[in-house]
Amino acid sequence: MMRSASDAGGLLPAANTSQAAVPSSFANEVVRWQQSHGRNSLPWQNTRDPYRVWLSEIMLQQTQVATVLAYYDRFLQRFPAVGELAAASEDEVMSLWSGLGYYSRARNLHRCAQDVMALHHGQFPASAEQLQTLQGIGRSTAAAIASFCFGQRVAILDGNVKRVLTRVLGFSGDLAQAAQERALWSLATELLPHDDLAQTMPRYTQGLMDLGATICTGRQPKCLLCPVQALCRGRAQGSPEQYPVKTRKLKRSAQSISLLWAQRPDGSVWLEKRPATGIWSGLYCLPVFDSDDAFRSLLPEHLAGRVEALPAFVHVLTHKDLHLSPWIAGFQADQPMPEAMLSESRPAAWFSPEAWPALGLPAPIRKLLAQDAAHPSAGRDGF
Ligand code: ADE
Repeated sequence: MMRSASDAGGLLPAANTSQAAVPSSFANEVVRWQQSHGRNSLPWQNTRDPYRVWLSEIMLQQTQVATVLAYYDRFLQRFPAVGELAAASEDEVMSLWSGLGYYSRARNLHRCAQDVMALHHGQFPASAEQLQTLQGIGRSTAAAIASFCFGQRVAILDGNVKRVLTRVLGFSGDLAQAAQERALWSLATELLPHDDLAQTMPRYTQGLMDLGATICTGRQPKCLLCPVQALCRGRAQGSPEQYPVKTRKLKRSAQSISLLWAQRPDGSVWLEKRPATGIWSGLYCLPVFDSDDAFRSLLPEHLAGRVEALPAFVHVLTHKDLHLSPWIAGFQADQPMPEAMLSESRPAAWFSPEAWPALGLPAPIRKLLAQDAAHPSAGRDGF
C-alpha cells in the first residue's frame, strides 16, 4: 500500500507511475524557508482580517505585486471595511480600479461586498467552501483567504503554484485535461502541512506563492537557492522548465476599434458608459466603432469633412491586441452630439478634464486624452 503524507518522513504517492514520490518534509521546508527568506512585510500580510486579505487576493489575480501596492492603499483609504465598499456606487469602484485591468474583477468585488453585507451579516464566511460561493472567489482564492485568515488546511493552485508543484512532483499530466488538473489538486492537498495549522498554513501558502514568484520562475528557475531542490523531481530530471505540461495554447486575437474624440472649447469630452459585456465593460469611454468604415458611415454628412484622423496605435492586452484608430473632432460650446453617433440607452455626457480621473477610463483612453495639448485642433475649431 502507498503511504500518505501524514506518515512521519513518509512518501507521497506518485502523481503517475513514472514519477518518483516526494518526501513529506516538503511542507516543513517551505514553511521554514518562508519565515527566513519569503516576503513578510507586504501590506496585506500580518493581518487575519478577511476583508483586507480578500481585497489583496482579488487585486493580485493577474496583476503583479508592484502594481497592486498603490491601488490597495487607495482602496483601503476610501473603503476601510467591507460595508463601505458595499455602499459605494459601481462607478466609484470602477474608477478606483481603473488601470488595474480585468474589470470584471471590480464588478465582482463590489457584488461580493454587497453579498457579505446582505447574506453574511457583514462577516466573511470562515471556510473555503463557503467563501467559494461568493462572487469572484474561485477555489484557489477561497483557499488562500481561508488559509491566511483561519489556518484552514486547504490547497491553493494558481498558475505559479501549478508550476512549483508540477516541477517538484515531476507531474507530467497535461493540465489542459480536467482529470489531470483534478489529480494535481489532490496532490496539492496531500502536500499540505499537518501540524499547528494556525501558524503553518499561512506560511506554507505564502511560501508556495513566494517560491513561484521569486525562485521557481517560468524561465531560468534559481534552483540553487530553492529550499526543496533536493526533493525536486523536475530538477533531478535535469529540466524543471518542461513543467507544467499544458497542450492547449491560448490563441491571441486582434480587434480593431475606431474612437470618436469629440471635444468642446472648454476641453470637455463626450464619454459614454460601455455595456456590461465586451471590451472595457462598465467603464466610461470615447464612443467606440467597429472600424473606420463603420465610423465614417455613421458620421452625418455635415461633419464628414471636419474630423481628423489621429495616428493609430496598438494596445496590448493579455490575449488580444487592440488596434485603436482615434478620430478627433472639435465641437462648439453648445453643439450636441449628433443622434447618429449616440448608442441607445447608455449613459453618456460631456465630461470636463477635471472629471476624468474620477471616472473609470480604460488605460489607453486615459493615455490618449492626456495628449490633449499636443493636438491644437481639439476643442478649438468648432464645426
Ligand atoms: N499573489 C497572490 N496572492 C499573493 C500574496 N498573498 N502575496 C504575494 N503575491 C500574491
